[in-house]
Amino acid sequence: IRIVRVRDYEDMSRQVANIISAQIILKPNCVLGLATGSTPIGAYQQLVEWYKKGDVDFSQVSSYNLDEYRGLNGDDPQSYRYFMNENLFNHVNINIENTHVPDGSNPDADATCAEYDAMVAAAGYQDLQLLGIGNNGHIGFNEPDDHFSYGTHCVDLTESTIEANSRLFDKIEDVPRQAYTMGTHTIMSARAIVVAANGEKKAQAVHDMVYGPITPSCPASILQLHSNVILVADEAALSLCK
Ligand code: F6R
Repeated sequence: IRIVRVRDYEDMSRQVANIISAQIILKPNCVLGLATGSTPIGAYQQLVEWYKKGDVDFSQVSSYNLDEYRGLNGDDPQSYRYFMNENLFNHVNINIENTHVPDGSNPDADATCAEYDAMVAAAGYQDLQLLGIGNNGHIGFNEPDDHFSYGTHCVDLTESTIEANSRLFDKIEDVPRQAYTMGTHTIMSARAIVVAANGEKKAQAVHDMVYGPITPSCPASILQLHSNVILVADEAALSLCK
């Protein structure tokens, strides 16, 4: 895992946006794996700015998001589909039909997940996968467990994730308890992976991802087995990596 040290959130966002736009310039019809959460918002804003200046063209890009809450419709403001539309897709010239997020409104978990994996595979997998990392080392919604997941699947969210995500909901009871997420194999199929992390809360997870044993109790540690991973992280997130 290659580490790029940055000063702060703004710096991280610009670096991540640079990597994504370089990918789009190198391969205009690339497949991007995208993430939600607080971490990538700044990078998406930067990409929107560059798009408006004419520096990046999304017209041939397609995208596959990591995850979606089970039980939420795409027009629900808490859904990840809504987040992506609001933070990126509505502001650039991506063809919305080429953007994909697991269908949280489909209660049939097996069908939803199998279909999603088939689509990612048919697209030839991600040229570049963007990841954030959970405080507990999760990637996508692959939570600490006694085994690594494989394909896209339905998960029960852990209390710590529900609590971390409750900041975006009115009350904690509103946070969905389940999600559809790309599995470890789906994520590792990407040809390049960029992980973004900022803030002290991520320090332990970032340390364990880079230097810890490869174990499903820190799902991000599997990234050590991928040959093309860049971690863009600020000093606080790297504070336990000496
Ligand atoms: C988001 C996702 C999650 C987040 C992680 C970090 O699509 O899959 O794994 O990347 O929970 O979240 P933030 O960025 O809010 O700290």
